[in-house]
Amino acid sequence: MKIAVLKETAAGERRVSATPETVKKFIGLGATVAVEAGAGETASIADQGYADAGATVGARAQVLADADIVLGVQGPDPDQLAGLKQGAWIVAGLNPFGERARVDRYAALGAEALAMELMPRITRAQSMDILSSQSNLSGYKAVLDAASEYGRAFPMMMTAAGTVSAAKVFVMGVGVAGLQAIATARRLGAQVSATDVRAATREQIQSLGAKPIFVENVQGIEGEGSGGYATEMSDEYKAAQAELVSSHIAKQDIVITTALIPGRPAPRLISDAQIASMKPGSVIVDLAVEAGGNVEGAVAGEVVTVHGVKIVGHRNVPSRLAADTSALFARNLFNFLSAFWDKETGRPVLDEEIGNAVRLTQGGKVVNDRLKG
Ligand code: NAI
Repeated sequence: MKIAVLKETAAGERRVSATPETVKKFIGLGATVAVEAGAGETASIADQGYADAGATVGARAQVLADADIVLGVQGPDPDQLAGLKQGAWIVAGLNPFGERARVDRYAALGAEALAMELMPRITRAQSMDILSSQSNLSGYKAVLDAASEYGRAFPMMMTAAGTVSAAKVFVMGVGVAGLQAIATARRLGAQVSATDVRAATREQIQSLGAKPIFVENVQGIEGEGSGGYATEMSDEYKAAQAELVSSHIAKQDIVITTALIPGRPAPRLISDAQIASMKPGSVIVDLAVEAGGNVEGAVAGEVVTVHGVKIVGHRNVPSRLAADTSALFARNLFNFLSAFWDKETGRPVLDEEIGNAVRLTQGGKVVNDRLKG
């Protein structure tokens, strides 16, 4: 069983899909591991670190030759997989809806492509969930990015020259990233409030010492669909939310938006008129910018200033903390493969629940229900 670890080729991608720690663990399971030279460089891992852990380090062609499993953070370019063994697994974040044509190419190569972002949100798969591990650090980084763009301090400070008041931070969307953003902003000393469409988050917001801002007395505000994800809200709800948010936003210094709805464009939460109501020098960080954006005027990959308010739209925020996000991503992949490791055959064998959820291609065909029809 040979596991290949590729150097990422997507623009701006600094993460790597294995670390010396996970290499050692795979070898402990009886696998051999080959790492493409320079794969860990942008995540602060030297080739020697992989070699010391027991991997061979070499050129891409050598690494891919005879590989049974190819690991990646993002999906490898099919053009660079020529000669891949029939039936080899590709295990990575494959963006199957955004990169649909690529999925067909993996099928044509005879690969079995497993999309890690389709991992079901069930208790036993929590340690395999790349969306959670990466969102967590994105929420943290969003607050640091806001702090560095903000021309004022976060905590209240009493100085001999007078008092500096605490920053007011509002977090919109309290999933994994939002919860971490609340905790980080609190640690920096800000006054934090937060909102979500899922009623269950109210208690979570309070337990982190922040103030919940919620639409009341509107039908259907539970807002929770399958797997703990949000659903699209009614027009009545959206109008009530916009009104509530408008009056609140005008008083905020920092807004962090993280709202996503699976399989749909991100909901628009902040309009140009609401931005205009904020004080000059305020900062908005739109973590959903690559999914269409929560904030009007946000631009993916840029920091723009609109009505004196900075709107931060960094792409691939997890990659901005590549050493830590790689360590967690690599553990997610190890936890996934090792949970299904069959000692007799020395290779992983997936069960139906998780296998059917993540498997995109098999035997030359696209087999995932969510991609068919
Ligand atoms: P996400 O990244 O899909 O969305 C972020 C947040 O935006 C969610 O809380 C969502 O409710 C909120 N949102 C959507 N539309 C909104 C709107 N119009 N206004 C305000 N907020 C809006 O969510 P994430 O972070 O992936 O987590 C979703 C849920 O899944 C959470 O309940 C989380 O606890 C749960 N979860 C379960 C796991 C497991 O059991 N394995 C692992 C990770 C998360």
